[in-house]
Amino acid sequence: MKMKMKSSVWVILFILGVLLCECEGCWKQESEALLALNAQFASPLPDWEDNTDCCQWVRVQCNISTGRVVALDLSAAWGNRDQNLYLNYSHFQAFQHLNSLNLANNNIAACAANQGLMLSNLQVLDLSSTSLDNAAAVQSCVNGFSTSPSLSTYHRFNATPSPGSQSMFINLEVLDMSFNNFNETDITSALTGLSSLRSLKLESTQLTSGSIHNISKLRSLEILYLAENGLNESILC
Ligand SMILES: *[C@@H]1O[C@H](CO)[C@@H](O)[C@H](O)[C@H]1NC(C)=O
Ligand SMILES: *[C@@H]1O[C@H](CO)[C@@H](O)[C@H](O)[C@H]1NC(C)=O
Ligand SMILES: *[C@@H]1O[C@H](CO)[C@@H](O)[C@H](O)[C@H]1NC(C)=O
Ligand SMILES: *[C@@H]1O[C@H](CO)[C@@H](O)[C@H](O)[C@H]1NC(C)=O
Ligand SMILES: *[C@@H]1O[C@H](CO)[C@@H](O)[C@H](O)[C@H]1NC(C)=O
Repeated sequence: MKMKMKSSVWVILFILGVLLCECEGCWKQESEALLALNAQFASPLPDWEDNTDCCQWVRVQCNISTGRVVALDLSAAWGNRDQNLYLNYSHFQAFQHLNSLNLANNNIAACAANQGLMLSNLQVLDLSSTSLDNAAAVQSCVNGFSTSPSLSTYHRFNATPSPGSQSMFINLEVLDMSFNNFNETDITSALTGLSSLRSLKLESTQLTSGSIHNISKLRSLEILYLAENGLNESILC
């Protein structure tokens, strides 16, 4: 009798162990979404392999207690091809716990997302050194347009942002858009949907005073980094 109880305790412990192991490590839907992204990259990342723990992959960071992906570094992942990239945030739907996303050094010219998509845990977004060069294109990458505009819609100076739309990144606090060309771009209008934005970095973006003329409309902003722009104190007037 005593022996029997002991062995059933072991069975329960074994089952618990198996269940716990499945909770640890990478979640299946996140691993599948990463593999789908990998298929888009210029050179697929060799260690992103099916049936391995995606929390161990390079450029992926998980919360060790939940196993959810919390940070993704996809800088230069699509390669610096001549062709402009039209980023589709719908491919990020699985990453509901994502806190930090690095998309720097990709030829992103505009972005799309399916209607209703929210990445509400995202706090840090890096869009530096991309091909974003007009307000409507910037807005598409911080709000996620639900329609399917063609890339030609985003030709420089032609597009104006649509007013008042709320961002899919309602909790975004830190945005880096350095090393893009925002000459004569009304960057403030493009960012008004970001109601939690605290820190904005616009280093070396060929800013003109019109680009940031209305920057004080970004009510939550605390840190504005404007190095390497030919601006002078006249912007304060
Ligand atoms: C991991 O997730 C848990 C549960 O959501 C949370 O309490 C914890 O702060 C997270 N850890 C880190 C390092 O973010
Ligand atoms: C974005 O991807 C989703 C899911 O694959 C697709 O349904 C949608 O049509 C795509 N949107 C655009 C604008 O390509
Ligand atoms: C903005 O573009 C105009 C026209 O191409 C040019 O004359 C001006 O020098 C540019 N300004 C900056 C700050 O790059
Ligand atoms: C600033 O905002 C006002 C009111 O929304 C608008 O009329 C004006 O064109 C904006 N100025 C610049 C330089 O973007
Ligand atoms: C500041 O920049 C404006 C616009 O580029 C220019 O007209 C003005 O002369 C500059 N002022 C000083 C003090 O450099």
